[in-house]
Amino acid sequence: MNKRTLLGALALTTALVVPGAIAQAIPLTTAPAGVGHDYEPLRDAAERSGRYFGFAYAPHLAQQDANYRAIAEREFSMVTAENTMKWESVQPSEGQFNWSGADAVVDFAQANNQEVYGHTLVWHSQLPGWASNISDPTRLSTVMKDHINAVAGRYKGDIAYWDVVNEAFEDNGTRRQSVFQRVLGDGYIEEAFREARSADPNAKLCINDYSTDAINSKSTAIYNLVRDFKARGVPIDCVGLQSHLIVGQVPSTYQQNIQRFVDLGVEVRITELDIRMNTPASQQNIAQQAQDYKKVFEACWAVDGCNGVTIWGISDQYSWIPDVFPGEGAALPWNSDYSVKPALAELAQVMGATTGGSTPDPTDPPTDPTDPPTDPTDPPTDPTPGACEVTASVNSWNSGYTATVTIKNTSSQAINGWELTAALPAGHSLAQGWNAVYTQSGSTLSARNVAWNSTLAPGASVSIGFNADFQGSLGSLSGFTLNGAACN
Ligand code: G3I
Repeated sequence: MNKRTLLGALALTTALVVPGAIAQAIPLTTAPAGVGHDYEPLRDAAERSGRYFGFAYAPHLAQQDANYRAIAEREFSMVTAENTMKWESVQPSEGQFNWSGADAVVDFAQANNQEVYGHTLVWHSQLPGWASNISDPTRLSTVMKDHINAVAGRYKGDIAYWDVVNEAFEDNGTRRQSVFQRVLGDGYIEEAFREARSADPNAKLCINDYSTDAINSKSTAIYNLVRDFKARGVPIDCVGLQSHLIVGQVPSTYQQNIQRFVDLGVEVRITELDIRMNTPASQQNIAQQAQDYKKVFEACWAVDGCNGVTIWGISDQYSWIPDVFPGEGAALPWNSDYSVKPALAELAQVMGATTGGSTPDPTDPPTDPTDPPTDPTDPPTDPTPGACEVTASVNSWNSGYTATVTIKNTSSQAINGWELTAALPAGHSLAQGWNAVYTQSGSTLSARNVAWNSTLAPGASVSIGFNADFQGSLGSLSGFTLNGAACN
C-alpha cells in the first residue's frame, strides 16, 4: 500500500453521459456537443495493438467542462498531469507539500481505469525560487533526492512511468545549464534516476525532451546518455519524445530515430504530441496536419517498443501554444468547439479504430487476407428506403469548413457498398475528403465507400469527412440519400 492510500486520499469521480449528436439537416454554424466522432473509444483500438493513447490532463478543466471530461474519460488509457505533478505544484515551499492537484490526476485515472504517466520529477522550469536559488551542491543534492523520494514515494504503485529528468539538453547536444547542471554537474541525471528507482522500483523511468524527434545533435546526446546508462547498469527504461511539431515538418528520420532508441533496449513514448500552425488555420494546413498526425502514429505503430502516444491536451481551447507562440495554435485533434479535425480520423485509422462503437470480437474467425476487397466502383446493393441516419459536425472558418459526417445503417440488413449524396448550398465547392471517394456535380455532393468501409452491418456507422470552400453564407447541408433512398 502506498503512502497516499494509507492517508485515505482516494476519491472517486463520476462518469458523465456523452451528449448526443445532431440533426440530419446540418446547420453549418454550430458544432455538436460530445466526442465529435463515431469511432469506438480510441483507447480500445490502441490497446488491441498493445499500446496506449494518452493525453495531458488538467483536473480543473474536468470540473468546468463536461465535454472535456467526457472525452478524457472515454478516449484515453494513459493520463499525464499537464502541470499538477511539477515541482512548483507539489512542493512550492521547502518541505511544504500540496498534493491536491497530483492526487486529482491519480484519482481520475484510477476511476477511469487509466494508467498515469508522472510528469515530472527534475526540471529547470516550474521550479520554485527556493530550489532554483540553491548554490551548495550538498544541499541541492539532498533537496533533489528528497523531492524525488517524497513524490515518487507517495505515488509508489500508482505510476506506470515517470519522466525523471525533463529537458536536460540544449539543441546542440550540450547539457542545459540548469541549476542542477551548474551546481551538481553531469552526474545529477544518474543520481536522479537511481533515486527514482529506489523510491518506486516498479515505475518505468524515462528521460524526456523536445526537438529530439529527428536524428539530430540533441537526440544523439540523449542516445549517448542512454547507451552509457545501459552499459553501466544505471536504471533507465524509456525515452520520451515530446513531439511538439510544426505542420508539414514531421522529420523524415522520425521512425528511424524511434527505432535506434528501441535498439538500445529502452521503450520509446511519444509524450506530448501536438502539431501547430498559424492561426486562423488554413484549409491546406488542416489537411497537411492530418497527414502529419498519421505519420507520427504510423511511425510509432511500426516500431515494436514504441508503446504509445500522448497528445498534449484535448481541444485547442486550452492548449499552451497560443500563450507561448502568439498567432499559432490549432494543434490538437479536437477544435475548441469539440468538433474534430481531419487529424482525428487519420490517427484513429492508424490505430485500427472501428466505427459504430463496436469492437471486433476476438472469437470471430479472422477475415481471410486473400479475400478481394470490395471494389468502390462496384454498384452498391439496393437500399432500404429510410434505413439510414446521417449526422454531422461542422467546423467553419471565414471561407471554408470541415464537415464530419456519420452514416448509420438503421436497417436490419447489412449494406454492402454505399453511396451517400447531399445537397450543398449554392457557392460551396468540395476541396478534398477522406474515408470515401468524393465527387461534386453542380450542388450535389457524392461520397462512395472505399474498400475498407464498404460493409455497414445492421446498426453500424461509418464516419467520413470533407473540406469545402464557400462564398456567401454558410447555409445548411440537406437532402441526404444513401444508395438513392432518403435518410432519416
Ligand atoms: O495557474 C495559473 C493561474 O492561476 C494564473 O492566473 C495564470 C496566469 O498566467 O497562470 C496559471 O499558470 C499557468 C499554468 O500553465 C497553468 O495553466 C502558467 O502561467 C503557465 O506558464 C503554465 O504553462 C505550462 C507550461 O508547461 C509551463 O512551462 C503549460 O500549461 C503546459 O502545457 C506546459 O507543458 C510543457 C511540459 O510540461 C514540458 N514540455 C513542454 C510543454 C509545453 O510548454
